[in-house]
Amino acid sequence: MMFQENILKKLISHCKKYGFVFPSSEIYDGLGAIYDYGQNGVGLKNNIKQYWWDSMTLLNENIVGIDSAIFMHPTIWKASGHVDAFSDYLIDNKDSKKRYRIDTLIENQITKYDNKISKEIKKATKYFGDAFDEIEFCKKDLYVLENINKKKALYARFTQALMENNLKELRQIIFDYKIVCPISKTNNWTCVRKFNLMFSTEMGSTTDSTIKIYLRPETAQGIFVNFLNVQKTGRMKIPFGIAQIGKAFRNEIIARQFVFRMREFEQMEMQFFVRPGEELEWFEKWKQVRIKWHKILELGDNKYRFRDHIKLAHYANAATDIEFEMPFGFKEIEGIHSRTNFDLNNHEKYSGKRMQFFDSKINKSYTPFVIETSIGLDRMFLSVLVGSYSEDVLREGNTRVVLKLPPALSPVKVGILPLIKKEEFKKKAREIMNKLKLNFCCQYDEKDSIGKRYRRQDAIGTPYCITIDQNTLDYHQVSIRFRDTMRQEHISISCLEQIISDNVSIKSLLKKLDE
Ligand code: GAP
Repeated sequence: MMFQENILKKLISHCKKYGFVFPSSEIYDGLGAIYDYGQNGVGLKNNIKQYWWDSMTLLNENIVGIDSAIFMHPTIWKASGHVDAFSDYLIDNKDSKKRYRIDTLIENQITKYDNKISKEIKKATKYFGDAFDEIEFCKKDLYVLENINKKKALYARFTQALMENNLKELRQIIFDYKIVCPISKTNNWTCVRKFNLMFSTEMGSTTDSTIKIYLRPETAQGIFVNFLNVQKTGRMKIPFGIAQIGKAFRNEIIARQFVFRMREFEQMEMQFFVRPGEELEWFEKWKQVRIKWHKILELGDNKYRFRDHIKLAHYANAATDIEFEMPFGFKEIEGIHSRTNFDLNNHEKYSGKRMQFFDSKINKSYTPFVIETSIGLDRMFLSVLVGSYSEDVLREGNTRVVLKLPPALSPVKVGILPLIKKEEFKKKAREIMNKLKLNFCCQYDEKDSIGKRYRRQDAIGTPYCITIDQNTLDYHQVSIRFRDTMRQEHISISCLEQIISDNVSIKSLLKKLDE
């Protein structure tokens, strides 16, 4: 765990040092859980966006994209349930003055039971060796059973209290399970309060006309309220989807773990409208499409897992998370939800406008059901970095820090490096760069030794470096160096474009996805 936490620390400082992510408003000491993306960060982020957008809108002729406004009519958030129910339960410790989300405190307690169980299993595995049967062991070992039961009881009591919105009971659970503040180590807790996560502001210039509006906490509602506009103007037939990428805002209580939980973040959401009764089939289909989309990046298949929701939100009839193994454990990066017709029905109710579709195939009007795929761009960005960050030990005993990014996502595709600062080399390098830059993001670098320049490109994940030397002038050849293997090859300048484009284009990923 310690090792893993160190990795996150290293990654955060790497991101800052190499222009991926900066703390926002840094010269004013920053602003909690808000980050700015630097020159390389925005390159990586844009490539992820393009991969997602193209996979939705190019590979599926029945999915189109929109870009709806961040500010929307406030009643939308009433209809969606966010005004009444988009809240966290909070408690403060009077000694440390720290604020906690109740669910996080409970989760930590459950993790303690899990750790006790794992420790016992580990000990038994060592003791019994090959003959060890974990399932049987867990059924019989009294200590393991005790902890499994404690975990189940806590979970049941907690979910019951949540369902009943019982703030007193939530506080009582904290006391009964002797949960203390991790900082002060005391149980000197305040009452539990409910806290809405939406940011609000005011619109209008006079007191009379001013209305309270919200910064959208999800992009999905912009899709729902435009459902009929898109369906009619695009002559869309069910099933069809609407995709959107955009900013969302949540006043997260505990914002930490770098860009994993932010107050201003970006979502890539797609609502897929289907016939009622066919939604679970589509849910399964989208689960498979989305996991394939992730795994094609080759960051390690074992780093992903589904976590099906056992307790469903009142409007959903199936839901799962795609989790990625972050340095702080498996965490949600994408949610896939079968949202029934809850949102469209509610918008119909609150707006008084019909939100139905006439299905000429079955000669019937209905409110479509919706499968939603919702991925956080910043979490995706973090997962790509976590999966790519590597400290390679080299033969000479040195290490190199390299981002083994999927080449199609790398912010810079080609480093162009004259071997030495000789005028003819520099001129030739510029000539090559002028050709390549029309297709790829290239970086020219003539400063320092070639080794240092390679390291700089490795650190930002550039898949190819091209060195221009005497051979280039005499035989029209360059040496191309491959980032991951560090292997070098002499190739003709005329082949460069083809070799690079085969690997670095988003198209190369889309082809695999479409197979
Ligand atoms: N429309 C459904 C929806 O918004 P969600 O599970 O609340 O569902 C979807 O959010 C995705 O948005 C998550 O899987 C996560 O990747 C991302 N996300 C949510 N809150 C976030 C935050 N505070 N910071 C960064 N990403 C966040």
